[in-house]
This record gives sequence, C-alpha cells and structure tokens, in this order.
Amino acid sequence: MSRYTVRNLRSSDFALLMQLEESMFGATDEGVLGPFYVRICCDFFQDSCFLLEAEGEPAGYLLSFVQKGQAYCTTLALLPKYQGTRAIVALLKAFVGAIQGDVDTCWFTVECDNEAARAVHKSLGAREVEERPDFYGPGRARIISRIDRESFEKLRHRFQRLGLVDQTEAKDESNAPSKALAS
Ligand SMILES: CC(C)(COP(=O)(O)OP(=O)(O)OC[C@H]1O[C@@H](n2cnc3c(N)ncnc32)[C@H](O)[C@@H]1OP(=O)(O)O)[C@@H](O)C(=O)NCCC(=O)NCCS
Repeated sequence: MSRYTVRNLRSSDFALLMQLEESMFGATDEGVLGPFYVRICCDFFQDSCFLLEAEGEPAGYLLSFVQKGQAYCTTLALLPKYQGTRAIVALLKAFVGAIQGDVDTCWFTVECDNEAARAVHKSLGAREVEERPDFYGPGRARIISRIDRESFEKLRHRFQRLGLVDQTEAKDESNAPSKALAS
C-alpha cells in the first residue's frame, strides 16, 4: 500500500494550509496566498483542491479551479523532503481523477525560473503558450502553459494504463467542482 494518501481539502484545513503556504512560499518573490483565497479553496473549491499526506502528515497540496470545461491548476507544492520522491504522482492522480470528464483544457502558470515546476508541467503534456510580463504587477512575469484536449486525453489514458486512474471509474457527480462561486 502506498505511504501516500490524498484527500480533498476541508474547511478545518484553513490554518494548516496557511501554514503550508508560509513554509513553501513565504520566503519567495511569489509570496503566499491571502487568507481569503485560502478560505475559498477550503470552503468552496474542496472538490478540486487536495492535500497529500504521508503517513498522516501533510506532504503537499494542489489547488485548482474548474469552470466551463477548463481547469486552472494554480498551486502544486510538495514539502522539500517529499520533492523528487514521486509523491507528486499521488497528487496528480487525484487531480486528473477529479477533473476528468469535466475538462478538456488545463492551465498552469509558473515563475520563469521554476525549472522543476516547468518540467512537471511539460511531463504532463503542457505547452508553454505565453510569457506574460506583468502577471503579478510590473516586471513580475509568469509563464502560462496549457494542456489541450488532445494532450489531456493522452495524459488520462497514460494514467489509466499505469493504473493511476480507474478506467471504469465513472465520474461521480458528488465529486464535481463546486459551482458556488463560478456562476
Ligand atoms: C514543483 C514541484 C511540485 C515538483 O515536484 P518534484 O517532486 O520536485 O518533481 P520532480 O522531482 O519530479 O522534478 C520534476 C523535474 O524537474 C527537475 N528538477 C527538479 N528540481 C529542479 C531544479 N531545481 N532545476 C532544474 N530541474 C529540476 C527534475 O529532474 C525532474 O525532471 P525530469 O522529469 O526530467 O526527471 C516541487 O518541486 C515543489 O513543490 N516546489 C516548490 C513549490 C513550487 O514551486 N510549486 C510550483 C509553483 S505553484
């Protein structure tokens, strides 16, 4: 059995997620997500936001939003000791499993110098489509990459072949992303 488990975020994860944000991004130029954003993830977008645990301890998280057939994966982070361990596969499995059937395009954005994240996006079949110069304000560029429908299908099939997403797993409607803030 894998030492990793992934579950959807829940409301009571707010403080933990704020703490994880601080430890992962507090010292970066990128900075941390604000409390309101984190609260929205924990309370409204739980179905597309995930916490990775290793033997019950937080190991990473993935935040995403789904609207009108498009997924926006806004944060993907592993605590340093889990980086390079393939723990990321468990998070990606949960993510792809949750959004399959709902989306045919998936977007990422990343700092230009974040080679690890860019490599992960590329390995998922994402294509870098734009470098937006002032994404987070003047001079704060970010790369935007996109998995299109064809690549997303390939990714889904690859995950299915590897047994990472159940082929027979019908999309559970209760797993569908909350539309509470999307209308
Ligand atoms: C981005 C992140 C989730 C990737 O997870 P990971 O377990 O480290 O990923 P991997 O070890 O599989 O590395 C992915 C690839 O990047 C490469 N890589 C890792 N660190 C690198 C670095 N500092 N510079 C260049 N390449 C690097 C790896 O060799 C690997 O390449 P490969 O697929 O050709 O083998 C993780 O590094 C992380 O949490 N980083 C901090 C948070 C962050 O920046 N998140 C993204 C922005 S939201």
